[in-house]
Amino acid sequence: MVDLSVSIGRGAKQELRLQNPVMTASGTFSNGLEFARRFDLDALGALVSKGTTLRPRKGNPTQRTVETAAGMINSIGFQNIGVGALIREVAPTWARWGVPVLVNIMGDTVEEFGQLAERLDGVPGVAGLEVNISCPNVEVGGMEFGQDPATAARVVRLVRRCTGLPFTVKMTPSLSDMRPIAQAVQDAGADAITIMNTIPAMAIDIERRRPVIGNVFGGLSGPAIKPVAMRHVYLVSAVTDLPIFAAGGVTTATDALEFIMAGASAVQVGTATFRDPATPWTVLEGMRAWCDEHGVKSLGEIVGAARRMD
Ligand SMILES: Cc1cc2nc3c(=O)[nH]c(=O)nc-3n(C[C@H](O)[C@H](O)[C@H](O)COP(=O)(O)O)c2cc1C
Repeated sequence: MVDLSVSIGRGAKQELRLQNPVMTASGTFSNGLEFARRFDLDALGALVSKGTTLRPRKGNPTQRTVETAAGMINSIGFQNIGVGALIREVAPTWARWGVPVLVNIMGDTVEEFGQLAERLDGVPGVAGLEVNISCPNVEVGGMEFGQDPATAARVVRLVRRCTGLPFTVKMTPSLSDMRPIAQAVQDAGADAITIMNTIPAMAIDIERRRPVIGNVFGGLSGPAIKPVAMRHVYLVSAVTDLPIFAAGGVTTATDALEFIMAGASAVQVGTATFRDPATPWTVLEGMRAWCDEHGVKSLGEIVGAARRMD
């Protein structure tokens, strides 16, 4: 049987071991509760929660999603119950599950990331964090935290100080080259890097002569963004020792294996679950079958395989 396990935070106070490299992507699997009745969540590597903020958020005006040629645009606006309610009402259920849950956190300011990390530290049911730096920093007029290496490093240093939990940092695709940010977050103490969030996008309704999305812009996800994410994974994996979690259009085991060969250690399945919620499990089974057929005994053998001739 192939060993698909992945570790993050190796050598840190708390290490997180995923039994396999298939995770759910933030915001596409709610907080997992609705899926627990129908699916074997414990068979997955990890779940990532909805984006969670200090205070509850109602989210953006409708229409919030639209299908595109090879994916979708969403503008949910971080609708969530807030970290307090998450800790009181959701984490106790996670604590009874075998699958580790990472809480995806999002702040309006650098300090808010620290407060979120502190509140979640030591909470039973919370196995780690995913720090979403692909969101606007309200203190500097909305530029994303993840677009500037110094700001990204400030967020990561603060989170590192505020929690013993292992954490991954989720990159923004609003960059032609992610490598300087990846290096900055590695040096600042991140345990892993998630590549990547949705790409800013829009659609027009020609009958109404208006943007389709209530908030005008949204984020593009799904198969359309896979080749973009692939390039970033390939480039970043050459400059970091941290495990990379790849997100962007993963729909089949082939997609997942492409990301692994580009240099990722695990994948996150997002948009594909809207069409078929069983996708994370079919991706996992397909990866296992491919490894068995090709005599691959451990995932490590093929991580970055496509880069080996560099
Ligand atoms: C409806 C929806 C909601 C999302 N919400 C979040 C979120 O709250 N936080 C976050 O970091 N990413 C969020 N994402 C981005 C996904 O986690 C993922 O990075 C992206 O969609 C690319 O993967 P995919 O093509 O498999 O969907 C969301 C994506 C979608 C489609």
